[in-house]
Amino acid sequence: MTNVFLIGFMGTGKSTVARYLSEKYGMKVSEMDQMLVEQEGRSIADIFETNGELYFREIETCLLKKLVEKQGQVISCGGGVVLRQENVDLMKKGGVIVLLTAEPETILERVKNSQERPLLSGNKNVAFIRELMEKRHSSYKHAADVIIDTDGKTVEDICDEIFTRVNK
Ligand code: S3P
Repeated sequence: MTNVFLIGFMGTGKSTVARYLSEKYGMKVSEMDQMLVEQEGRSIADIFETNGELYFREIETCLLKKLVEKQGQVISCGGGVVLRQENVDLMKKGGVIVLLTAEPETILERVKNSQERPLLSGNKNVAFIRELMEKRHSSYKHAADVIIDTDGKTVEDICDEIFTRVNK
């Protein structure tokens, strides 16, 4: 089975969907953010604060290079993975790219209690989320093979939709 790369803005449900896909279809989950936290032995917030975003983007690309060597995984990517064309090229070669989307209001609801998203620290409001989302919109759209709106859907609905559309 080919790799499924879940991409999308923070709070679009990539990790939840990845876990469910793995339980239902027996795929191995690779949770990029969590792997980077384990590799570095510190939080994402700490990595950003101490070494900056550029360093984080470097280690993110390095990890992606390792992940694409294997097949049959569902890979939950960090929300900014599409910012580098190199990452998009790696994912295109390595599997199917599934974009999860949600309205800024839904995103805010999902991330409001998270301390683990440095880009949203002090910016947890709909206006900021909408603006950042709009800046990234074309990168997400260009990268995606399949686009799935998650608003008002259960995780089961979303996973069934992914399965059907990926296997078409
Ligand atoms: C980021 C999203 C985060 C994490 C980092 C940067 C982004 O992942 O990789 O904070 O640039 O959108 P999630 O999308 O899993 O929150």
